[in-house]
Amino acid sequence: MTVSEVMAPDPRTRSIRTINGLRASGPAGPAAAPQLIWCFLVRLDLLLRTGRHHNPWRAIPGRPAFFLPKAAMKRYEALAEAIAESIRSGVLRPGDRMPSVRQASISREVSPSTVFQAYYLLEARGLIRARDRSGYYVTAGSQALLPEAQQASLPEPESAPVAVSERVFEVLESTAERDVVPLGSAFPSPHLFPLQRLARVMAATVPRLDPWSSVDDLGPGNARLRRQIALRYLTDGLHVRTEDIVVTNGALEALNLCLGAVTRPGDAVVVESPAFYAALQALERNGLHAIEVPTHPREGVDLAALAQVLERHRPKACWLMTNFQNPLGSLMPDAKKRDLVALVTRHQVPLIEDDVYGELYFGARRPVPAKAYDSEGWVMHCASFSKCLAPGYRIGWTVPGRFGRAVTRLKLSTSLGASIPAQATLAAYLEKGGYDKHLRQLRHALSVQQNAMLQSVARHFPEDTRTTRPDGGYFLWVELPPHVRALDIHRYALSHGISVAPGPIFSARGDYGHCLRLNYGHAWDARSEAAMATLGRLVRAFRDPA
Ligand SMILES: Cc1ncc(COP(=O)(O)O)c(C=O)c1O
Repeated sequence: MTVSEVMAPDPRTRSIRTINGLRASGPAGPAAAPQLIWCFLVRLDLLLRTGRHHNPWRAIPGRPAFFLPKAAMKRYEALAEAIAESIRSGVLRPGDRMPSVRQASISREVSPSTVFQAYYLLEARGLIRARDRSGYYVTAGSQALLPEAQQASLPEPESAPVAVSERVFEVLESTAERDVVPLGSAFPSPHLFPLQRLARVMAATVPRLDPWSSVDDLGPGNARLRRQIALRYLTDGLHVRTEDIVVTNGALEALNLCLGAVTRPGDAVVVESPAFYAALQALERNGLHAIEVPTHPREGVDLAALAQVLERHRPKACWLMTNFQNPLGSLMPDAKKRDLVALVTRHQVPLIEDDVYGELYFGARRPVPAKAYDSEGWVMHCASFSKCLAPGYRIGWTVPGRFGRAVTRLKLSTSLGASIPAQATLAAYLEKGGYDKHLRQLRHALSVQQNAMLQSVARHFPEDTRTTRPDGGYFLWVELPPHVRALDIHRYALSHGISVAPGPIFSARGDYGHCLRLNYGHAWDARSEAAMATLGRLVRAFRDPA
């Protein structure tokens, strides 16, 4: 079978259809169309690669408060997944040349732009590579992956006090050394960020700061920065007003302020299972109970289970991640986000949405946050620049919806404001442009590193290991063979100079004893490969004790 045949759909489903206004019939295609299609494709490729499709004026002022561009971007994902499956199963092999965009669009009966986006996604995931003027090829090693983790978690659906901090601090403190291979770190490599350029912008900005900004930019924060944040939302089709945004000391402060504004000690709060450990620590610190809800590694929290919990336990808030959840990397589909917002709105339970990884997508567009579907203000959206632009500047924000007043007051009475020079610097950086170019490089580096780590897991870990394959972020969740204890791996790995994040720190009850979170946010090199080989040997040793 040829590659083109693999790409062809069932002939019974073939029909005459329109490609961008041009009638194309059957597999042969129209004689007159190629020229025009190529003009279109070249333009589309340029747009995709330069990011100039980020046009702030695409959104139409005067439309209702929250609206989205058409959420019909899923065909390319389905096509990419079908091709990825052909690669994984060995039908398409390393070195095979992919059909041209035109051939694939005709044989798959989708538009050229769908094929382009699918190829772009596959390229970002390291499965295919473009070669100069000769098309796309399947990459070497693209088949050798272990099966994907597919099972949703099954936590106890009960409300319980949280006591994780001791465990979390013990693990994190032991992994903070610089010379440790940082597979357990929560941070990507600082070398991925434009720190020199930010420093130059700061040097030019701070001397010119209006002295009164030290007072004016407290409270909700620097107005220019908030306007830039609002503009970025606008390019993604989400209408947020400057005055809806409160600048904070990183996303963590934003999340804690939101939690503080809507809960009292003894209340119950919904979290994912597994959950970001700092969310569990925040519940513990505030004397709150956690209700852990089943969460799927691809699609996020289980809405049927969440509906039952909202009905039965009447929690005071949900703290969830809809985009690239930490630690699973799950990405909730748009329709599910819409249903989630409808559900919390019906129950009048605030949704504290942590969107710190939303910009780190490997697909063709930024996934919208659940906030995009929030017409009644029940979503308290939180994000920051820490993971995508300026780690260490500690600038985050929240769009707290109907709880704006409570959050602003809490902010004023706890930390007054965020660093004035850091806010001014980020505002000036965003105004100058270049952020999208940086993000494209960052996303590309992360997707390449993810592929390297996935292949390394396949090379070194036992075949009954399962890993997630997130479409963004910089974490893999690894399910080890059932009897291997992640805390043992953590301890032994550390004695070899390697950190890992063991599963139990992501659970109020210490579940996930056989899971690890691994960080692929650092450049892949011989040291990373050797560390993975050591981890693999440790896992095998614990799986098959002598
Ligand atoms: C899921 C998640 N949310 C929030 C944060 C905190 O973000 P920031 O550094 O902006 O406070 C982190 C940092 O590790 C994180 O992983």
